[in-house]
This record gives sequence, structure tokens and C-alpha cells, in this order.
Amino acid sequence: MARVFSGIQPSGELHIGNYLGAVRNWVTLQHQHDCLFCVVDLHAITQSYEVSSLAQRTIEMAIGLFAVGLDPQRAIVFVQSHVPEHSELNWLLNTVTPLGELERQTQFKDKAQRQESIPAGLLNYPVLQAADVLLYRATLVPVGEDQLQHLELMREIARRWNARFANGGGFTFPEPQALLSTAKRVLGLDGQVKMSKSLGNTIGLFDTPETIWEKLKPAATDPARVTRKDPGNPDICNIFTIHQGFSPAPTQQLVAHNCRTAGWGCLDCKRVLADNMIATLTPLRERAQQLRAEPGKVSDTLRAGAAKARALARTTMVRVRRCMGLLEGAEA
Ligand code: TRP
Repeated sequence: MARVFSGIQPSGELHIGNYLGAVRNWVTLQHQHDCLFCVVDLHAITQSYEVSSLAQRTIEMAIGLFAVGLDPQRAIVFVQSHVPEHSELNWLLNTVTPLGELERQTQFKDKAQRQESIPAGLLNYPVLQAADVLLYRATLVPVGEDQLQHLELMREIARRWNARFANGGGFTFPEPQALLSTAKRVLGLDGQVKMSKSLGNTIGLFDTPETIWEKLKPAATDPARVTRKDPGNPDICNIFTIHQGFSPAPTQQLVAHNCRTAGWGCLDCKRVLADNMIATLTPLRERAQQLRAEPGKVSDTLRAGAAKARALARTTMVRVRRCMGLLEGAEA
């Protein structure tokens, strides 16, 4: 069975972009593979962040993952900082990571541009990501297209480490593959850029029916539909993309037809979408509410997840330390 690893930052709000683009697929993958899913708090601190809410955002993200259906009996769900081997392997992998490759990462360049002082952690972000995956010798990494460059670097790091340290001793890092999601990318409600909590253009996965409708009403559609009688093009409409995530196929066809013929106005289309979203999301919201009422139970589940992850991580680290020639005794 292939091993799968993926991570999500503790933004504090799981939104429908995360759900359709990633997390919904994780729920499927847990039935097919040996899966680890991680709330990557150590990645979240590479940019300026609110210290006082990090722990709360982390637990809320875990609650979200369980509410959408990740099952701790099937997948290992845990918090990155609870398994200190992530940081340790990150350091060791730094020694085989070419600085030039890090400086070339487009995400780094984007994020660095928005900062006056650039922390080294931001540059090393992809090395920590490589450590996340290689620590479990995972081979499949479900990610969006924006992570492909990080995946390529991860493979390069694995190759370089293997070339320098594997020494025919029977231990190597496999080169992980990206598992690209086939879902079309959901844009924010502005229809301009990707959906993101920090941009305030999201529909939260656990928003109430009223909020969902309030947010959908003014959301961007095909800009060519200026008046009610203008026909639209569903292929370029973000609302139609969301329909593809929440509405059954016959509804999607009906929506597309009524858009192209101006049979419906955008608000008619959005009302149908709201109803389908609410039908899908209500049970998830209720599960999240139940979990929020039992924070101790969620913490225990995360602790158990970390213990399982850590057992795997320790096995890798014993071999990695040995291959790199470090003096034994760390396990004591
Ligand atoms: N960088 C990823 C993102 O922003 C999150 C992440 C951290 C990740 N570690 C990972 C994804 C390991 C896949 C595998 O989406």
C-alpha cells in the first residue's frame, strides 16, 4: 500500500476552497492508502502570525478535518510540532539543500517581497516540507498545482541525500510524487484570486445557511452578464465551478443551460447552489459543533495521532542518523 502524506496550515478556518481542492480528497484517500495528514503549525510560523491564537487555530483546523470525515482509525492525523523529528530532519536535510534552489522558489519570492525583513525560516519552508514527507518515506503527496515546485525540490533533496549518504546500506528516501487534484480551482468570492482566509474572500466550511447565502448573493459571476437578459458562460464563472463541487450532475447541466440562454439570472443560479451547499455542509457543521464541545477528546485524538506518527518517525531517524555518521545514543 502506498503511503500518503499531506499537510494544511492552521489558518483557523477551513473554507470551501480547501474542501473541494484538497480535504475532500483526503477523506477518499484514507480508504485507499496508508495516510498521514498533518496540521503544519511549524510552517505557519514562517510568516508573521498572531501568537495568542495559534493553538486555537491549530485545534480548530483539526476539528475541521475530523468533521469532514478524516477518521483517526484509518488515517494518522496529527500536529506537526508534536513530532519533533520534523524539525530534526529539516536540519539534516538543510545540509544537502542547494541555496540557489531555495531562492528560486516562486512562493518564497512572492512572500519575501511582501516583507521588509525576511526570516531564514521562510527560505527554508520547502526543506521543512521535504522533511514532513521524507520522514515517513511517503511516496504520494496530494497537493494543488501551487506546490509542484516544492515537490520537485523535495525530490531533488531526496536524490542528493541518497547520493551522499545512502551508501548501499539498504536505506534510501523514495522520491515522492505529487497527486494533483483534478477539481477545478475555486476562486475567492471576488472571482479574481484564489480563495484564502487572509484575503477575506471565503465561504467557511462551517458557515451557517444564512451566512452562506449572504456571501453568495454579491459574489462575482461572468462579468459579461451585465443585465438579466445577457447570456453567460459557465466555463468562466466561479459560481459554476462551485456548483461542480456541490451540485449533482443533472443540476449542473440545468444550470449551464440556463446560464447560456439567460433562462435564469445569476441570483436564481446562486439560490440553487446555496441549497445544495447547505445540504452538503449542514451535517459537517453539526459534527464540528459536537467536536468543539469536547476539546479534550480532540486533544487526546491528536496526541494519539502524534504517538503513531512519532513511532514511524523515530524508525526513520535512527537510520538517517546512522547513515549520516552521527554518534549513536540519541534514542537513550
Ligand atoms: N506547503 C503546503 C501548503 O501550503 C502545506 C504543507 C506543509 C504540505 N507540509 C506539507 C503539503 C507536506 C504536502 C506535504 O499547502
